[in-house]
This record gives sequence, structure tokens and C-alpha cells, in this order.
Amino acid sequence: MDAKLNACMGAMKYLKDGMVLGLGTGSTVFHFINLVGEEMKKGKKFVCVATSFDTEMLAKKNGIPIVSLDQVSKIDLAVDGADMVAKDYVLKGGGGALAREKVVDYFAEKFLVVIDEGKLKAKSYPVVVECLPFAYAAVIKNLEGMGARPKLRTGGGKVGPVVSDNGNFLLDCDMKITNAKKMEQDINSIPGVVENGIFTKFSKVIVGTETGSREL
Ligand code: A5P
Repeated sequence: MDAKLNACMGAMKYLKDGMVLGLGTGSTVFHFINLVGEEMKKGKKFVCVATSFDTEMLAKKNGIPIVSLDQVSKIDLAVDGADMVAKDYVLKGGGGALAREKVVDYFAEKFLVVIDEGKLKAKSYPVVVECLPFAYAAVIKNLEGMGARPKLRTGGGKVGPVVSDNGNFLLDCDMKITNAKKMEQDINSIPGVVENGIFTKFSKVIVGTETGSREL
């Protein structure tokens, strides 16, 4: 069976009827959203906050009610993917949804990272930085001062910079991570930076394999 699906099946034991859920973004969490939809068809009730337009559309397709963050007093459980996993941090933002993801994932009482085991092999991944379009040149200079090699993300289907769900630019930064927590804070202290893809606060990593899942 699909390792991404198995990771999400592993997360299902943390799901309790009536929970407020934070739904991450990406091809791994895709399966979790479908599984939540199936639970709802069986009669369970959930209220969810989505971390991207993509997730919101998929959730709605599955009959999952989506509310905005100001309509809930807490999030019980957030489930989200990652691009790379290290001991004390994970890197996210490959799909450009890092800012809303960090708001939702960090606000949640429990935040589960779901990955397929292939992700454990990744030794490096760019640190993604979302910034105000107005500020991008200054942010690049500041990041270079921190030893990073930032690249403005451009993409298929559109000429020019990729624009995030929040209307911002994305910088993919090749940089060495030494002290993840400090780096996460230092990058966010650059004026014009909205958020970065270093996530140092999570409850558990669930790794899916072809035959099941295990927790780190
Ligand atoms: C979205 O911007 C990302 O943070 C994703 O959560 C991350 O890239 C994992 O995505 P996949 O599950 O598709 O690998």
C-alpha cells in the first residue's frame, strides 16, 4: 500500500469524534483529508481549518466543513506533511503553503507530521521563506548576510514569481542549519519576512512504509 496513505492511517488513531482539526497541505495529507471525509460519512463530526486553498477545495469535495481560524477557540489536532525531517526540526514549504501551515500547526494542541519513509533519506532541502513582494530584494540581501543563497521561486503556468495564497513571494534558500530554533527566529526577524519553513514545534513524526507506519 502507498506509504503516504499508511502514514495518514497511523495518524487516524489520534482522531476523536468532535475534534477541531487543522488540515495541512500536500500529497501526503491528501490521504488524511480523504480519511477524515470517510469518517464523516460514517457519522463522525469534525470542524476543520485549512492551511491552503488546495486543502480547502479537497476538504469541501469530501463534505468536510471548513471554518476560518477566528471561528474556533482552539485546534485539537493538526496533521501536516514535511519535505525533510531532522531530529529537532522539519522543513516545509515545498508547496508554498508554509505561512498558513505554521499558524495552524503551532496553534494546535497536537501537531502530527506525516511523511513517507523516502523523506527520511533527504539530507538537505531549501529553507523556504515567504516575504512581502515589496520587500523581496532587501530580504534576499539580509538572507545572504546570514550565509544563505536565496532564489526567488518562479513556476510553471505563470510568468514570473510564484505568488502564495497570501499574495506573497517565496524564496528558496540553500543554507546550512546549525541551530534550528534560533535560525527560525532570526529569519523571521528580517523586516518583510512573513514566515519561514523551519518548523521546530511538533508532537510526533509518523513515518509511513509500504506495509504500515511507525512513530519517531
Ligand atoms: C506545503 O507547502 C508543504 O509544506 C507540504 O506540507 C510539504 O511540502 C509536504 O508535501 P508532500 O506531502 O506533498 O510531500
